Amino acid sequence: MTSLATDGSTAYQGASAEAIQSHYDIGNEFYELWLDPTRTYSCALWDGPDDTLTDAQARKHDYLVEQTRADRAKRVLDVGSGWGALLRRLVERHGVAEVVGLTLSQAQLDHVRGWADDRYELRLENWIDHRPTAAYDAIISIGAFEHFADMGMDRAERIAAYREFFRRCREWLPPGGRLAVQTMVKGNNTRMSKQTVRDLLFMIDRIFPESELPWSSELVEASERAFDIVSIRNDADHYARTCLEWRRRLLADRDRAEAMVGGQAVDDYDRYLSAAASGFQNRHLGLARVIFERA
Ligand SMILES: C[S@@+](CC[C@H](N)C(=O)[O-])C[C@H]1O[C@@H](n2cnc3c(N)ncnc32)[C@H](O)[C@@H]1O
Repeated sequence: MTSLATDGSTAYQGASAEAIQSHYDIGNEFYELWLDPTRTYSCALWDGPDDTLTDAQARKHDYLVEQTRADRAKRVLDVGSGWGALLRRLVERHGVAEVVGLTLSQAQLDHVRGWADDRYELRLENWIDHRPTAAYDAIISIGAFEHFADMGMDRAERIAAYREFFRRCREWLPPGGRLAVQTMVKGNNTRMSKQTVRDLLFMIDRIFPESELPWSSELVEASERAFDIVSIRNDADHYARTCLEWRRRLLADRDRAEAMVGGQAVDDYDRYLSAAASGFQNRHLGLARVIFERA
C-alpha cells in the first residue's frame, strides 16, 4: 500500500490495518493470558536470573523514556502503542502531561479507551497519516518498525520507506529532540538449517503478514540527514528470554487459551514463540534499541 510522502512522492505505508488486525485482534483476553499484566508485547530488558517479566518490561520502558528525556515532558508520541503500557508508564510514573498513541488495532484501541482519561489521545491511525496538532518533546516506537516494510521489497525500497518515517519524526520534534526505536532486526548468522528456514517462513505467512525485518544498517542509512545516532544496542538474548517466558505462561494455561482461540492458534503461537526464541539465541534475529537525536 502507498501514500503521499512529504516531498510529494509516493511512500510505502507499511502493513495494512487488515494484516495488523489479523494478528493483534484475535482476542484481548488471549494476550492477557500470557503477556505481563500491562500487556506489553515487545522485548523486555532483563536484569539477573531472578527478575520477573513485569519488572523487566517496566525497566525497558523506563530505559527508553530516560534515554529520550521523555520523563516530565509535556507531550510524547508512541508510534505503535499496543495495549497502552508505555502511555500509562509515561503518565503515571514519569508525569507526562499529554501522551498520543497510534495503533492499527481496533481491539487495542478499545482496550485503552476503556481506562484512559483526557491526558491520553488514542488514534486508530497509521503514522504516515498522522498530522500532529502540536509538536512532541519525544517520540518512542517499540515493536512497530517490523511492520513498516514487506517481504519482496529490496533494500532501496525498504530504506525509502524507513526514511519517510524518520523524516516525519524529525518534523514532529524540536532541535535536540529524541526518538527511540526498538525493533527486531535481521541477525548476522545466515547459516540456517532447513527447519529454521521453515520456521521463519511460517512466521512470515501465518503470524506477521505483510511484514519484514530491517538490517541494522538500514536503520542507520535511513535516518541519515534526519537524526544523529546517540546509541544502538543489540539485546537478542533479552528477546529470547522474553519469548520463552511468554511461551511458558501460554502453555501453563493451555486449556483456557484453547477455549479462547482454538487449538490450532495455540499450536501456532507455541511454534512461533519457540522458533523466535531459537532465532534470537542463534543470532538469525537481533533486537535493536536505537536512540536518535534531531540535529
Ligand atoms: C508488537 S505491537 C507492540 C505494541 C507496544 N509498543 C508494546 O511494546 O507492547 C506493534 C504495534 O505497532 C502498531 N503498528 C504497526 N504498524 C503501524 C503503523 N504503520 N502505524 C501505527 N501503528 C502501527 C500495531 O497496531 C501495534 O500496536
